[in-house]
Amino acid sequence: METDEAKGPPETDPRIEGEKHPVARMIGIGLLASLVGIAITLWIDWFPESAAGSAGKIDTLYDVLLICSVPVFVLVMTIAIYSVVRFRAKPGDMGDGAPIHGNTRLEIIWVTIPFIMVTALAIYAWITLDDLEAKQKNEMVVKVTGRQFTWTFEYPSEKLASPELVLPVNRPIEFKIHTKDVLHSFWVPQFRLKSDAVPGLTTTIRLTPDKAGRYEVVCAELCGIGHSTMRQFVRVLPASEFDSWVSRQREAAAGGGGGGGGGKQAAAPNGEQLFASAGCTGCHTLKAAGATAKVGPDLGKLGKVDAKFLQTSIVEPNADVTKGYKPDVMPGNFGTQLSKEEIDALVKYLLESQE
Ligand code: CUA
Repeated sequence: METDEAKGPPETDPRIEGEKHPVARMIGIGLLASLVGIAITLWIDWFPESAAGSAGKIDTLYDVLLICSVPVFVLVMTIAIYSVVRFRAKPGDMGDGAPIHGNTRLEIIWVTIPFIMVTALAIYAWITLDDLEAKQKNEMVVKVTGRQFTWTFEYPSEKLASPELVLPVNRPIEFKIHTKDVLHSFWVPQFRLKSDAVPGLTTTIRLTPDKAGRYEVVCAELCGIGHSTMRQFVRVLPASEFDSWVSRQREAAAGGGGGGGGGKQAAAPNGEQLFASAGCTGCHTLKAAGATAKVGPDLGKLGKVDAKFLQTSIVEPNADVTKGYKPDVMPGNFGTQLSKEEIDALVKYLLESQE
């Protein structure tokens, strides 16, 4: 019984003997499958619209990688599927396959060709990266700071800090990326470039936004419970609108300390908008704002609180930490990032939003 089933295969497999070698047909099918595969991968719209000068180079690099990958995929799958079908064991055949002693020529081919391909692609990618990282004339530095769970932005040349990222179109930007706590990753899909924010390091990316519009800023590194809410917007504006945004921000910052000395009155800050733009929604629940994050306390259920308590809690988060929450989680610099009017507007909004 046992000896019958364990019978080894004959010296030459009778199923292969006498048949024409199917290499030519396989190459034909493989070429056709590769062409179809390449057409499909190029037809798929992988990326959102592009809004930066570097996007074209990155998209081309991606296309080249796809074009090179498809034939390799087809080659591997053709051989695998062919082998599975062609050399399938007959029902009841429990014998071992014929021993294989290796094939030096094949091994040299399948080491050399992938080595050349991977090296060539690495050189191409290196050259592209080097182009993207080249210093540009007239660069504006924007400091990006990630923290659980919001991004904030500083413009050293304008002496300005903002919870919102606003950029002038067609001006080269050098982003200097930091984190206050854990790893985050600064990503604007329409700009194509993405960089980790690493504790203790400054990482840099350079790009030139070339299309005005509003795009999402995403955190692309799992950074804690509020990671999925760590999303903001970047507004790319024509240069003149950017300049007036800068002066409005400056006025707002100056107005916070000096009282209403200026002639024209800027629109009063809107607490509801600020709640989102300052990043509060990243950590807090507030029914009125549709915010559901649970890093900090529910701000719609604060019980009996007054304006003074709320104001202190925004500016000095560690002064009175709600039971069950840890100190040093909420950023301590809202007092410098928001004007007095903005904080007042937030406080008013919070008081009105109690359930
Ligand atoms: Cu920050 Cu994910």
